Amino acid sequence: MIEQKKLKNGFEYLKINNKNAHAKIALQGAHLFHYQRLGHAPLLWLSGKSFFEAGKAIRGGVPICWPWFGRHKTEKNLPQHGFARNLLWKLLEARENDACSTEITLQLTSSEESLQLWPHRFELLLQVTVSETLCIALTSKNCDKKTCEISSALHSYFAVTNIDNVSVEGLENTLYFDAVTNESKTQKGPLSIAEEVDRIYQKIHNPLILHDQTRTLHIAATGSSSAVVWNPWITKCANMNDMQDIGYQTMLCIETANALEDARQLAPGEEHTLTAVFS
Ligand code: BG6
Repeated sequence: MIEQKKLKNGFEYLKINNKNAHAKIALQGAHLFHYQRLGHAPLLWLSGKSFFEAGKAIRGGVPICWPWFGRHKTEKNLPQHGFARNLLWKLLEARENDACSTEITLQLTSSEESLQLWPHRFELLLQVTVSETLCIALTSKNCDKKTCEISSALHSYFAVTNIDNVSVEGLENTLYFDAVTNESKTQKGPLSIAEEVDRIYQKIHNPLILHDQTRTLHIAATGSSSAVVWNPWITKCANMNDMQDIGYQTMLCIETANALEDARQLAPGEEHTLTAVFS
């Protein structure tokens, strides 16, 4: 079943239920903010203090960072992580493939508003397949007459039992930019988190594997060779107005990305798809 829902303040989302899983996707930002396989705990972390308001990104789920990841390269006043997560997308298709699989396609195209922030005409499609596995595919198309550069991320927040129980496999011996210390480093062994972590890994192994007590999650990417790992830890978390002070203990962001050297140049008419499958 696919239902179109609206909060009292007009914030719209889709509620999806099939024999395998439940999910919720906001039209603002094409933002998936809930996914849960039947009989399992929710996969995605969602802040109890998140805003569900026009123009504010939801804290949790899978925000879409696009067409730039992080701070804009030259214009520091432009919004962090681009604008796609803050704009209203159009629902193109909502389809039940069968009783066990639902496919949602949302679209964002360039507008006067987007052209003021980024001078390129584009079409962006997000296809989400909700089933026993979760598949998210983001297709960027350059509809302009000039080449554009896109850096992006499917900024997945995963719910974990406790951050102390977690390790990430697949980053071993890869180079990363450490945004906390502004240094380039090499990952030694599997990653565990015991402090603020904000890193962009390059040329990662595929899939990445998140181990959490008895649960193992595979994150398989296509169209991507970089990944971002983020946990704000104690001080940063306490300073965020949309996260509870202890929020950092039960989340970890592992973001399927096209960041730094993995940014993509799209010639006129060219398209690129970034995909993540969670299983
Ligand atoms: C991560 C970045 O992807 O997102 C961090 O690497 C950033 O530097 C985090 O703090 C959250 O960003 P925002 O804009 O959603 O608060």
